[in-house]
Amino acid sequence: MEWYIGDVKIPNQFVLAPMAGVCNEAFRLLCKEMGAGLIMAEMVSDKAIGFQNEKTLKMTKVNSLEHPISMQIFGADIESLVKAAKYIDEFSDADIIDINMGCPVNKVAKKAKAGSSLLLDPDKVYEVTKAVVEAVKKPVTVKIRIGWDENHINAVTNAKMIEKAGAKAITVHGRTRNQFYSGKANYDVIKEVVEAVKIPVVGNGDVVDIESAKRLLATGCKAIAIGRGSLGNPFIFRELTSYFLEGKEIARPSKEEIYNTIIRHHDMLKNLKGEHLAMLEMRNHTSWYLKGMPNSSQIRGQICRLTSFEEVKKVLKEYLDINE
Ligand SMILES: Cc1cc2nc3c(=O)[nH]c(=O)nc-3n(C[C@H](O)[C@H](O)[C@H](O)COP(=O)(O)O)c2cc1C
Repeated sequence: MEWYIGDVKIPNQFVLAPMAGVCNEAFRLLCKEMGAGLIMAEMVSDKAIGFQNEKTLKMTKVNSLEHPISMQIFGADIESLVKAAKYIDEFSDADIIDINMGCPVNKVAKKAKAGSSLLLDPDKVYEVTKAVVEAVKKPVTVKIRIGWDENHINAVTNAKMIEKAGAKAITVHGRTRNQFYSGKANYDVIKEVVEAVKIPVVGNGDVVDIESAKRLLATGCKAIAIGRGSLGNPFIFRELTSYFLEGKEIARPSKEEIYNTIIRHHDMLKNLKGEHLAMLEMRNHTSWYLKGMPNSSQIRGQICRLTSFEEVKKVLKEYLDINE
């Protein structure tokens, strides 16, 4: 089920959606190992690249095991977006450059007039995409929402602009900006986009299991991007690839595997960011890994108050009844 973004071969249709604060190298590698066909890195600000912010430049680094991988940038000022794209083109080993036109948060959309606020202006969508496409060698893709609000659902218009500007794929999150993450993703509009353009469309929104993946794939999209469904659950990629590529429905991970994955996730984060940040980030991740387990909210609360990962391990071992 391989497909292409420009000349970049994507081995299957299951994509890790970009998630700020989550999709760093550690989580990306876990999802990749589980079978994700394409991984999208968390967004980086064009301005921060322009200012040569050390932390941001580090975020553009890619591990050789991650290919194919897409690096996402956001911004509204064409000149600085182009500069950031050129930086990624030249100095990052990422295979693809994605432009974020879907971010709903006020700081990005309203204040900086970037992210999803671009959706209100299809001419600007065209201009921005074209300027970036012309400035770089790597294939460029764009991620959008279906529109700004229920009165401005213009994904088809924007998608045509993006295609005309030379982008090689589009990801469509089936919500408006004003919905943020509430309500249900609208797959009908994703289907309209699929039918309106020739470049590959990656459908996005609310995929959490095989059934929801089937529903989104039924829009005819080339691939599906999974965000929240992968939080604490990189295993979703193994389950989807087993089912859709090999016809096998496999069991959910055992508690031993979940425990070992939490430890590995922590160790990878520690290598990347040091013990303190790894510990802080793992509070969220551990909550997600335990979600849905009996009485897990109590344990999640307890873990958030701990200050060393050794203590977290001890609590987890007891809770999950792990013998090592
Ligand atoms: C914690 C979090 C961070 C996100 N950060 C980004 C981002 O950096 N860039 C982006 O385009 N979308 C971002 N998104 C949106 C997701 O990529 C995705 O479009 C959205 O969550 C819908 O897909 P889902 O229902 O599979 O989660 C983020 C979502 C979440 C939950």
